[in-house]
Order: sequence, then structure tokens, then C-alpha cells
Amino acid sequence: MELHKFHVLLAMVFVLFLVPVVHGWGLDGHYSVCKIAQSRLSKAAAKAVEELLPHSANGDLASVCIWADRVKFRYHWSSPLHYIDTPDKLCTYRYSRDCKDEDGVADRCVAGAINNYTNQLLTYNKGSGQASTYNLTEALLFLSHFIGDIHQPLHVGFTSDRGGNTIDVHWYRRKAVLHHVWDTNIIETAEERYDDSNVDELVDALQKNITTGWADQVDSWESCSGNMTACPDIYASEGIKAACDWAYKGVTEDSTLEDDYFLTRYPIVQWRLAQGGVRLAATLNRIFE
Ligand code: ADE
Ligand code: ZN
Ligand code: ZN
Repeated sequence: MELHKFHVLLAMVFVLFLVPVVHGWGLDGHYSVCKIAQSRLSKAAAKAVEELLPHSANGDLASVCIWADRVKFRYHWSSPLHYIDTPDKLCTYRYSRDCKDEDGVADRCVAGAINNYTNQLLTYNKGSGQASTYNLTEALLFLSHFIGDIHQPLHVGFTSDRGGNTIDVHWYRRKAVLHHVWDTNIIETAEERYDDSNVDELVDALQKNITTGWADQVDSWESCSGNMTACPDIYASEGIKAACDWAYKGVTEDSTLEDDYFLTRYPIVQWRLAQGGVRLAATLNRIFE
């Protein structure tokens, strides 16, 4: 094979096999978080979101919720902003200790990104009608995506296994990576089994639970201490705890994960997607109030 053809092949292999390693929730996870959020916006927040969305979204935040994953390679600086690596086996999170990228640069993690894009969006209009110095369309899409990501338990995972990205398992009969099981496989299996492969039915089921079974928790999900607009540290602390209690629990290299795991973990995935949606709405409502 000619050398340049070999390089093209290598590039294709890279795109096909390495790109999925770093994704957040899959498409349907992010879609669900943003669908739930948009249905809970105040009048002022709904208006601001509508004004900031790109025309291609047709007013639908969920349709562009995955955008931040698509630009990871164009905006190389953004790839560490999708997750937090915490010390192995400790099962705790502290902003000052853990929110940094692999080179140790502070604030470069999903919690820091949520704070940053919240602060950018707070410059929206501010009564003066003046344009912001930031690209607030991108800020909205980043914030909407990252509030989803921080609710994926393994996006606040252990450092040495990169949030389960280096743990190979079997998902039923197929080879899988633990991280990807939580981004995508659990949701996909649930759709095949319960929802006729339809993400809108998954969203409907979550919306029903928010107004019934989880109704008494929703106020506490929304609340953010004192005068704070965004509360990513709460979500990250819950995340590493859920990662330890549910995602990593009982899993080792080459484990086969099937019904025992799926049936006990799918409720956690549903719960985190619902929290992500409720909290994205609450955060946008505080930003644009
Ligand atoms: N890369 C390194 N750690 C990661 C994590 N927790 N989630 C996603 N990608 C990662
Ligand atoms: Zn992921
Ligand atoms: Zn992501």
C-alpha cells in the first residue's frame, strides 16, 4: 500500500474507533435532558433561549444539545470540559483538587465550564440592549450540553481508568467499554425493550415521573445555595457517588453486564437524566430572570 493511502486508512480507523471514546451522554441522553429543560422554562428564559438558538434548531434546544461533542475536534481546547477526573477509589469530589485538565490547568473541567458559560450568559442584554462580547449562542449550547454531561455518573469518574473509558466489558453478547455503557448502551437497551426504540417515549416517561414519583424531590434538585446561579459542585459530588455506588460497583475488566446490571442501573440513568433536565431549566431560569 502507498504511504499516503495508509495514512488515509489510519485516519479512518482513528475516526471510526477512537472518536466515540470521549463522548458524553449519547445523542438520546442529551436530547432528553434538553427536551425536559425546554418544557420547564420561564417566559423570560424561553424568550432568551429562542433568540439565542441557531436558526438550524427551529426553536428546538434538544436538536442542538449534542453540538458540543461535534465541535471537540474543531475546538480542541473544549475536550477536557466534558468531564472531571477524581482520585481513584476515593469517591469524593472537590473543585479545588479535581477541576483541572491533564496538564493541571485549574478550572478546565465540566464544573468550571458550567460556571464559565453561566457567567457569559449573565451578560445577555442586562437591560441595556447592548451586544455581549461573548458568543452567547455557543455559550447556551455549551451550558446545555455540560449540565447533561455532569449528570452522567462516569463523567465524574476515576483518573486512572478515565471515567471507565479503559474498562472493557461485555454488554450482553457484545464487546463494550464501561463508559460507553453509561453514555449510550443502557438507554439504547431501554428503548429497544420498553419504548419501541423511540426517544420521545423515553422523555414522556421521564416527564411523568417528574410530576409523580419524583415530585417531592424536584424542589431540592432545583435549589442552588444562597445567591448562586449555577451549582455544578453539587451535581459533581452526586456524580462520583453514583459512579462508585452503581457504575463501577461489581464491575471488573471483562465483566459481562446483562439483565442484573441493566435492571438495577436503568432507574439511575432515568433519575440522572431527569435531574439534568430539571436543573438545566432551573439554571437558565435563574440566568434570564
Ligand atoms: N476522559 C478522561 N476522563 C474522562 C471522563 N471521566 N469522561 C469522559 N472522558 C474522559
Ligand atoms: Zn461520555
Ligand atoms: Zn460531552
